[in-house]
Amino acid sequence: MGTNVISFGAGAPTVPPPNLTFDALAAFDVAKASGYGSSRGEVGLREALCGWYATEFGRLTNPGQHLVTNGAKQAIMIALLALCDAGERIAIQNPYWPSYLDLAELTGLGVELLPYSFETPDVRAWIDRVSDETRVIVYSSPSNPTGSTLSQDDVTLLASWAQETNRWIIADEIYQFQYYRHDGPAPSVLHLPAESFEHVLHICSASKTFALMGHRIGWITAHPSVINRCASIASNIAGNVNTPGQSLVARALSISRAELSDRTAQLKQQRDVLCAALAESIPWLRWNAPDGGLFVWCELVADVGDRWTGDTIAQSLLADEHVAVVPGSVFGHQNALRLSFTEPPSQIVEGIERIRRWGEARL
Ligand SMILES: Cc1ncc(COP(=O)(O)O)c(C=O)c1O
Repeated sequence: MGTNVISFGAGAPTVPPPNLTFDALAAFDVAKASGYGSSRGEVGLREALCGWYATEFGRLTNPGQHLVTNGAKQAIMIALLALCDAGERIAIQNPYWPSYLDLAELTGLGVELLPYSFETPDVRAWIDRVSDETRVIVYSSPSNPTGSTLSQDDVTLLASWAQETNRWIIADEIYQFQYYRHDGPAPSVLHLPAESFEHVLHICSASKTFALMGHRIGWITAHPSVINRCASIASNIAGNVNTPGQSLVARALSISRAELSDRTAQLKQQRDVLCAALAESIPWLRWNAPDGGLFVWCELVADVGDRWTGDTIAQSLLADEHVAVVPGSVFGHQNALRLSFTEPPSQIVEGIERIRRWGEARL
C-alpha cells in the first residue's frame, strides 16, 4: 500500500474547472482550427477578456490591449524582454515567487530584492529602495507566498512612480479572484484610470481562477504600444498559443458571478480551517491569515529557528509524518515554511494534526 502523503505543497486549486469549459471543448471544431492562429491570441478570447474586465473591474479595453500567452509564466518573461535590455535590473517583492528570479536570470537581468515583509508591504519603502539602474518592479498581489495584498492606494502610488520616473510595474494578479476580504476581485491595477496605466503591465491567467493550469493560457493587459512590443516577441517565441485552450478559457470567462463567488468561498473555507488548526495546535509558527492567494506563510518562532530551518523541518516532516510543506528557502527565507490550503478540510485537519505530533516529538 502506498504512503498517504498529505500535501500542503501544491499551488493548484483543487476546486474543479467550471462545467461550461468542458462544453466549449466538446463543441470545438478541430478541423477548422488546426491551422496557425494569431500570435496575439484568438480574437474571441481577447474580446471575452474585454467583456470580463468591463464587468468585473469597470475597465474598458479593446482587443489590442491584450496579448494571450502560454500561461502567466511566459507572460512575465515576454514582459521582461519587452521592457528591459540585458544587464539592466528589476526589483522584486520579498519573499518572492521563485520564477521571478529565474526569469530575470534567463533574460540576462540583475535582481534587487525589495525589503522583506510578510505583512502588506510598504510600497513607499519599495520606491525608496529602488536603484537608478532598476527598470521594473515585479510583484504578485495577492502574493505567492504570503497572500498579502496591496491596497488600491498602494497600486496608485506605484503606477504614478512608474509614470513619473519612466519605470515600469509588472503587476502579477494571477490570484485576483482568490481574495477573501470582500466578494469580488482584489484591489487591482485594472482600476487605475487609463492615463495612469501607461507604465503598467497586468499579468493574469486561467490557471488559478478556473483551475485550468494544464491548458497554459495566460495574458498581458497593457497600453497598446506595450502590447505591440510584447506581441513581436511572442510571435517569435511561440507563434501562437494553443487554440482549443483559448476557446475553453473564452467560455470560462462567461462564468456567472455567483459561481465565481462560490469557488472563492470554498477556498476561503479551506483557508479558515487551516488557520484555525494552526492557531489551536502549532505554537511554534508565526503567521497571518492571508488576504488572498492559496498559501499561509509561516515563520519559525525564535527558539525553533535557532535549531531548525525550513529545509530541515520540511525534510523531517516528510520522512516522519508524510506531510509535504514548502521550505521558505525556495522564496528566499531560511526560517519559514509555506503551507497551501488547496486540499479538502479533512485533509488539512489531519495534516496539521501530524505536524502537531511531529512538533511534540522533535522540538
Ligand atoms: C505568483 C504567480 N505568478 C505566476 C504563476 C504561473 O502561472 P501560470 O500557470 O499561468 O503560468 C504562478 C503559479 O504558481 C504564481 O504563483
